[in-house]
Parts: sequence; structure tokens; C-alpha cells
Amino acid sequence: MPRKFNHGLDYDDDDYGDEYDDYDYDYDIDSDAEDNGNLPKPNQETDSSSIWRCSICTYDNDQSMTTCDICGVLRNPLPLSGISNGNDLKTVPFKFDIPSPDDMVTNGLHSSKRGPKASATVRKDNTSAPMSARFSNSSSLMMSKGSNVTGNENNQLKDEEHNLRSSAKSPGTLSSYHEGGVEHTLPMDEIKPPILARSLDSVSINDRGGTGKAASWGQYKPEKWMLPESEDGLLNQLNLAIVGHVDSGKSTLSGRLLHLLGRISQKEMHKHEKEAKLQGKGSFAYAWALDESPEERERGITMTVAVAYFDTKRYRVVVLDSPGHKDFVPNMISGATQADAALLVIDASIGSFEAGMDGSKGQTKEHAQLIRSFGVDQLIVAVNKMDVVEYSNDRFNLIKRQLGTFLRSSGFRDSSVLWIPLSAMENQNLVTAPSDVRLLSWYKGPYLLDAIDSLHPPTRDVLKPLVMPICDVIKSPTMNQVSACGKLEGGALRSGVKVLVMPSGDVGTVRSLERDSRPCAIARSGDNVAVVLQGIDTSKVIAGGVLCHPNFPISIAKHLELKVLILDGASPILIGSQLEFHIHHAKEAARVEKMVSLLDPKTGKVMKKAPRCLLAKQSAVIEVVLQGPVCAEEFSSCKALGRVSLRALGRTIAVGIVTRVIEKEP
Ligand code: GTP
Ligand code: MG
Repeated sequence: MPRKFNHGLDYDDDDYGDEYDDYDYDYDIDSDAEDNGNLPKPNQETDSSSIWRCSICTYDNDQSMTTCDICGVLRNPLPLSGISNGNDLKTVPFKFDIPSPDDMVTNGLHSSKRGPKASATVRKDNTSAPMSARFSNSSSLMMSKGSNVTGNENNQLKDEEHNLRSSAKSPGTLSSYHEGGVEHTLPMDEIKPPILARSLDSVSINDRGGTGKAASWGQYKPEKWMLPESEDGLLNQLNLAIVGHVDSGKSTLSGRLLHLLGRISQKEMHKHEKEAKLQGKGSFAYAWALDESPEERERGITMTVAVAYFDTKRYRVVVLDSPGHKDFVPNMISGATQADAALLVIDASIGSFEAGMDGSKGQTKEHAQLIRSFGVDQLIVAVNKMDVVEYSNDRFNLIKRQLGTFLRSSGFRDSSVLWIPLSAMENQNLVTAPSDVRLLSWYKGPYLLDAIDSLHPPTRDVLKPLVMPICDVIKSPTMNQVSACGKLEGGALRSGVKVLVMPSGDVGTVRSLERDSRPCAIARSGDNVAVVLQGIDTSKVIAGGVLCHPNFPISIAKHLELKVLILDGASPILIGSQLEFHIHHAKEAARVEKMVSLLDPKTGKVMKKAPRCLLAKQSAVIEVVLQGPVCAEEFSSCKALGRVSLRALGRTIAVGIVTRVIEKEP
């Protein structure tokens, strides 16, 4: 069963035959006037001179705003900037005609996405679409349960949060908040902001949580075939999450890399270019290699994570191209949770970098924090669209200085962050040294591909039993066959092996394995594969579930103890707060059941028992009760099943780990 899917668009070889084999794609793209604009998704000016309409969400913004008040997308053209790409006519406005993944959890709706996809190179994962390989964190298991939060409860919660937030925001009243009409005072040291870096480190590194599975898993003895052989000649797989603010050029960069490295043929590229131009979106030709669904193409944004592959000298890279739009952060979480390393793409153009860094609307900081909380400590910052700023060294340095400070505070070591100025559109500094003299004059570092090769190989849990969180399920009803896609986080698989499918508890047999659409004999920890199963009811294999060793079942639970770090700018958390709970590829509505303790972020020691409320930058132990059960383990026994993020009102408010599985489901 292929991991690439060709059932969306018909490719007619006769139309694009040999004549295009020598097609100079670079020349054509570069000479296309509509692609030369620095901000190719124009916002539409409305009739009224006092407002401008965002082309992404169609919100009518006040003239004074340079970014959309709703989705943070940069206004184009900027007032008085004189910059326009002259390609406004056919831009199709973004419409929120389907609920965002966040809305679906909050409102208990079902995902409506069932669209087909097509690509010869890319797999898109969709946790709820059987035959489409899309990857959105809207698993049918998790979504079908929805949430019980009523409008009234929601409003009440919002009011409470508003009270807390406003009291927390006003200087001098930081230590007080309102609950049930009563003012409460917190000791000042309880709300002193910790250094985020230490907090994230203590969350991800210093956990000494429960003993749960660690002891029983200690008895596991891997068979000889499961251990990697040094002479097998295979490149190490490196799962590379491409993250960053909306429109920064993630898909364009990914598409360009795939094309330059021979993973997308001239013919395919020409096809993307032709179709993109037909829709008045010529500048998106490379992005269309990843953004395959009609909806993504029409809106000009990535909505679900695309999975593609290319090889470097050292690695078989699994590209996880994430959506940058804030409505699709849950999908980004589901994809990036598999990352071994990340490529944070920054739009260098004036105003766009700043929009991405905006604490409330930008996604640069949120993505960076999420990635760090998933245990990723190796980061390449691709400062893209340098062509727009004339390859200015000053602009690059400013971005490096401002973002560098934030990354340091988020727990990234300076020595683990590589900064690469580049232009995906002009093919500068991607797979060869730059040719533009403006960049050459001051940049002497590695090009992007070299930077990827310089990353340290990730460590793998080869001695642990099988754990493979399922990010996507592909069903083939005619053959009564089902494929579970995902990254092995422990153990190994080969055909004939029996696997336990959780949460159903059914046992299936591995019929075959595929890596990058090619059959492979063995998959080991770290490999991103499709596992074709037989002998199992296909409805029992669901995205958000986990494949594991039949003798070492993982836990299913609804009641968990978590150690969390509340993120900057987050709404306060109280007992009873309704949250979206994310763990590996599963998402579930959750309620805060208990506030166990407030922790000293530096030492991890308990500062206060049973705090009433948690504010931004605090670290705490809490208990949550989920609407439905999820596969979860204590972080100390299985990192991949023990990392969580909590979201509310469309933003990530906390990241953390599972310290105790309190009540296991039978
Ligand atoms: P989302 O997935 O929706 O978050 O967007 P993205 O980050 O994948 O951005 P995408 O690749 O869709 O590109 C957005 C726009 O930026 C497109 O019009 C691209 O042509 C343009 N773009 C990307 N890279 C460059 C670049 O290096 N220079 C210029 N001038 N434009 C670029
Ligand atoms: Mg994209």
C-alpha cells in the first residue's frame, strides 16, 4: 500500500510529455512578474476607506492596523508602502466555513474534512480521513466525544478568565484576582515570573515521576533482528518539523528543497506551476507540492501536516511541513510531536517578522515553545525571504538578536541553534552556497542542506518495547486491509509480528511495512512508516491510538496528573477550567480537577500546596480529567506518550508532562 497518494488529480502524461524534461523551471518562475512581490497574498482593500479586509480571514480591520486583528496576517499592501504584487484580482478570500480543529473540540463537533489528496511525493496525514493521507489532529475517536462545555459555562469561564487576566495585567494588582465576586490575594513570590528556559528544562528533563511502566518494561529483551546493524547501509531517519508563522514560506521552502533534491520532477513542478498560475497564485507553485487539497490551494494556506522525504549525505529526512495559521496549531502539534529536530522558518520582510513575533497573534513564539516542549533541542532558524530585504545583514542580525533572546528563554541552547539566511524563492543558500553577491558579501556559514547534515543523530529507544503512536489511518475496504502510519518511538517491527492495537486492545499481524512508499523489511525506533495490518477489524485502528507489544500494553486513562508550565500570556487556570488536552496524536476535552502544588521553577520544589489559580510563567502539578480515554504513559517511562500540551480559546496555554496515570481504564 503506497504512502503517496495519486487519487486526487489526474496526471496526463500526454499533456506534459518529454518536451518539459528540459524545462527551465527556475527561469520561468523567476521571470514571472507576479512572483516577485514580497508579500504574495494580498489583503483586499474594501470600499470603505476606514477599513481593510484581511484576505485570509476576511475580517474588516481598522486602517490603523498593519496586521489582521483576528489572525495576525500582515496587511498587504502596507499603507504607503507602495508594495503590491499586482496580483490582487484572483485572490480568493479565506472563509471560516468549516470549524477549525480547536472549535471542533470546544464545541464537540465532528471533523468535516474528508477531501482527497494527490501527490507523487508527499503524504498528508489526516487522522480522521480514511483514504486521504492527511495529518490533522482531529481524530475521530477524540472528536466524536466532543465537549460538554455549554455556552453558559464557556461564558462564565471567559468572565472568570477576563477578571483574572485584567487583574494580572494591571501593574500593582498582579497579586490579586477575583473568584465568585471575592478578591483573593496571592503571595508575591507565587507569581514571580520564572525563567522559561529553566522551567521547560525542569519539565522535560528533571522529572522523577512515577515508576509505572519503567519496571515492567525493564524486563523486556529485544530480539536480535530488532537491533540496528551498523553494516545495513541505511541512512538514519531524521524527522524534521518545518514550523513557523503563517506565510513565512515553509511549504515553498519544503517544495523547493524537494525539487532541488530530485524528489519532484520537472514535469510535476511544471504542472504545479501551471495550475497555480491558472488560479492566480503563481507564487505558490512550490508550496502546492505540499499543499494539495483544493481548500488549501484556494485559501493559500497549509491546513494539515504534509509528510515528504529527501536524502542528504547523512540522513533520510522526513519533512513534516506544518501549518502556520493559528487555527491549525492542533495539527501542527500532532505533526511536530514526531520531530527529532526543527526548522523554524522566519519571514525576514519588514513587518512580517514582527507579526510572527507578536505574542498574542503571531505563531513564531508559540511554535518554538511547543517544539521545545516536545523535547526538540536542535533547531535551524531559516531566515527566509531575504530577497525582499535585499539580503541585508542588518535585518538578519536584528532578527537573530530578537528571536535569539526569546529562543534562549525558551530553553534552546545557543550552541544548538543554527541561523541560515536564505531565499526559497530565489534559491539562495538552500543546497549550495549562495550566488547573490549581496549575501555572499557577509555570509560565510553553511547552506541549509549542510546545516541539516550537521545535526546530531537522534537517540533511539531500541531497547524498549514497541510503541508507535498512530497519526494517520488508511483503510482499503476492498482488501479488508488497514494501514497505520506513524513514527516508531520504541522497539521494532517486521512482517509477521503481532501487535496490540490500543485503545481497542485487539491484536493484529503486520502484513508489510512501507517507508516513503517503498516496502521495507524492518522498521526500528525513529522510523516513520506505514504498517499494513491484517487479522483485525479495521475500525479498531484509529488515529490517536498506539501500536504496542502484546506483552507490554500501554495504559489507557482519563485521569492524569501533570506537571505543567503555564506559557507567557496564557489565561489563568482554575479548578474546573475547561481545556483541550493534546498528547501525541490524540486530542481530548479536559477539565482541571485539582491543583496539587505550585513549583519553584528553578528547583522544581513545591512552593505552595493547593494553589487557587495558576498564572502565566508559573510551574505546577495539576490533575486533569478527560472527556474520553487516551493512550498515555508517565513521562519517566515513555517520553513520547508522556508529553502534553494544553490549549484554551484557540491558543496554547501550557506545556508539560504526565507524572502519574491516576486511574487506568480497564
Ligand atoms: P502556511 O503553511 O499557510 O503557514 O504558509 P507557509 O509558511 O507554508 O508559506 P507558503 O510557502 O505558502 O508561502 C507564502 C508566500 O510566501 C507564497 O506566496 C510564496 O511565494 C512566498 N514566499 C515563500 N518564500 C519566499 C521567498 O523566499 N521570497 C519571496 N519573495 N517570497 C516567498
Ligand atoms: Mg505551508
